[in-house]
Amino acid sequence: MSAAEFVPGSADLEGLRKAARECRGCHLHENATQTVFSKGPVSARLMLVGEQPGDVEDQRGEPFVGPAGKLLDRAVAEAGLDPAHTYTTNAVKHFKFTPSSNGKRRIHATPDTHEIGACRPWLVAEFALLDPEVVIALGATAAKALFGPSFRVTKSRGVLMPWPTSAAHAQDFDRGEDDGSASAFALATIHPSAVLRADDRDAAYAGLVSDLRVAAKALAG
Ligand code: URA
Ligand code: SF4
Repeated sequence: MSAAEFVPGSADLEGLRKAARECRGCHLHENATQTVFSKGPVSARLMLVGEQPGDVEDQRGEPFVGPAGKLLDRAVAEAGLDPAHTYTTNAVKHFKFTPSSNGKRRIHATPDTHEIGACRPWLVAEFALLDPEVVIALGATAAKALFGPSFRVTKSRGVLMPWPTSAAHAQDFDRGEDDGSASAFALATIHPSAVLRADDRDAAYAGLVSDLRVAAKALAG
């Protein structure tokens, strides 16, 4: 099972968003409140890909509006990236969690390879519409979805790669329009939630901003 049968053959962003509300491509829709699709304009030059919605996002229906999102907004601004030209989405569109032992809290659970693969058709459809100039994978899950299972964020973060990478190409990620001259880039960095969890938050935050600056430079160049 995957999202493939729920993705409309031709649709604009609003059409994709609407169709995604009905997705039953994996079991994650069963316990989550709603599909969390994306935010940002179809004309965006920069695409940020996170892991999956968190608790707050699941309730609000918008990506990156909780604590990690607030930190990300700050880092994006500090790196000199323009939020108005940024499209933000997630590798997986439903919140995966396990209930805490007293049943009062929903604890984030990392999506597995099967769930990432099941949700990938949405991401592929988003790429086909958007044709971004720079793509940033936030954390290991997004990096796996975009760059393949052998990609290691810890080893390769902040390094600009041509987009689509060969692994991405093999997974149907392609630039919508290829005029042969424009070149797109991708890079991976840590997830903003990892900054919130880090022992040395300031250093982790500085690292995130510094990786995002690499993307800002690529967009300016
Ligand atoms: N973390 C993510 O990866 N995505 C969100 O939308 C929120 C938190
Ligand atoms: Fe569909 Fe993705 Fe939600 Fe699974 S996580 S039901 S594939 S939108």
